[in-house]
Amino acid sequence: MIQFKIDITFINRVREMAELRNYLEGMPNSILFLYGPKSSGKTTLMYRLFEQMEAEKEYEINFLNLREIFLTTYDDFIDAFFKSSNSGEGLKTGTRRQYSLFGLFKLDAFTEKMLKKRREDPFLVMKQEFQRLIKKGIQPVVIIDEFHKLDGLYMPDKQKRLMLELMNFFVALTKESHLCHVIIASSDAFFVEQVYVDSKLRKTSKFMKLDYLEKDDVFAWLRDIKKYNKVQKYTLDEKQIEIIWDTVGGSAWEIHSILEDLFQYSLDAIVSKIKREKVAMIADWTFNDEARNCLLRYFSKQPARNLTELAGTSKDLLGQTVRDNILYYDPVDGIYGIQGKSLEWGIKEYFDKMDISKGLTPASAA
Ligand SMILES: Nc1ncnc2c1ncn2[C@@H]1O[C@H](COP(=O)(O)OP(=O)(O)OP(=O)(O)O)[C@@H](O)[C@H]1O
Ligand SMILES: [Mg+2]
Repeated sequence: MIQFKIDITFINRVREMAELRNYLEGMPNSILFLYGPKSSGKTTLMYRLFEQMEAEKEYEINFLNLREIFLTTYDDFIDAFFKSSNSGEGLKTGTRRQYSLFGLFKLDAFTEKMLKKRREDPFLVMKQEFQRLIKKGIQPVVIIDEFHKLDGLYMPDKQKRLMLELMNFFVALTKESHLCHVIIASSDAFFVEQVYVDSKLRKTSKFMKLDYLEKDDVFAWLRDIKKYNKVQKYTLDEKQIEIIWDTVGGSAWEIHSILEDLFQYSLDAIVSKIKREKVAMIADWTFNDEARNCLLRYFSKQPARNLTELAGTSKDLLGQTVRDNILYYDPVDGIYGIQGKSLEWGIKEYFDKMDISKGLTPASAA
């Protein structure tokens, strides 16, 4: 086995995992949307759930991460969702419950051929598969990550959007026929918002937010990197932990990246580089664009804003800011916020510098 000088770890998420379990232990009645800021750990949490439940015989978990899949046509969708049992590829066999991370449903070659020739209705094939499992006393669960990647694909008649058809199908499977649990995650806040404002879907779905790690978790982690990351070469004192928290907050990916860099650089140098990078990113994003400048200056005073406070701001501009991963949007609470603590620093320092260069003090620039 390869020995790394720092391992990947998984911190806490006990409450979130229990929330997912609670959803799965009820009778299927709604779609569950998992949302949250960029890199908050949605995919990791679902993989964990998947691993945990793999051992439980009463569930058949079908996990599809669309980020791993090249999707440009309807046929790509068929390939991603259906794999024949003798195609082998991507299938872990040898257990009663076979699964594939690449194809949701295992079919016989004939059905697959019929699907490809468009002589079979893919939704009917899925439904039959679920009914077959339920008869055997197994509860099917579908988990799809990066679901918004289906946007832009159409049904073969070119009239209907595949994503909407699939969503309606999932409503039928959950709320109406109670056949199957469906968990959908997306890193695209605008997709989640679209679902949330669609009254038909909102009434058939539950929304679960996954935020960055909390302070207590980050401190517990960083006080014992030997245990969590198998780091032998150094330890962190309280002051350093405070600096890391202050710089990147509970963003696990950034914390891990700092831990890696600490093998080579001082914490001061790392923090200063992170801030410089973020300032440069904001300078680039706002370059010659007054509207962007105004919007971000507003956020530099307060990193989260509710919809009432943002009244009058162009929805297009807000949308663009979210799509560019500068802001995130929480549709349930109606809040726009800066995408992570390090970016908060970038935005704040960028405007502080601008004000100083224009001879303004930050306070008078409000
Ligand atoms: N609970 C955790 N403890 C430690 N590290 C974590 C935890 N959750 C996630 N991570 C790390 O954070 C990084 C980002 O996680 P992940 O890709 O799951 O986020 P995501 O929310 O799915 O991102 P995206 O918005 O891009 O889809 C990964 O490197 C992962 O190892
Ligand atoms: Mg993800």
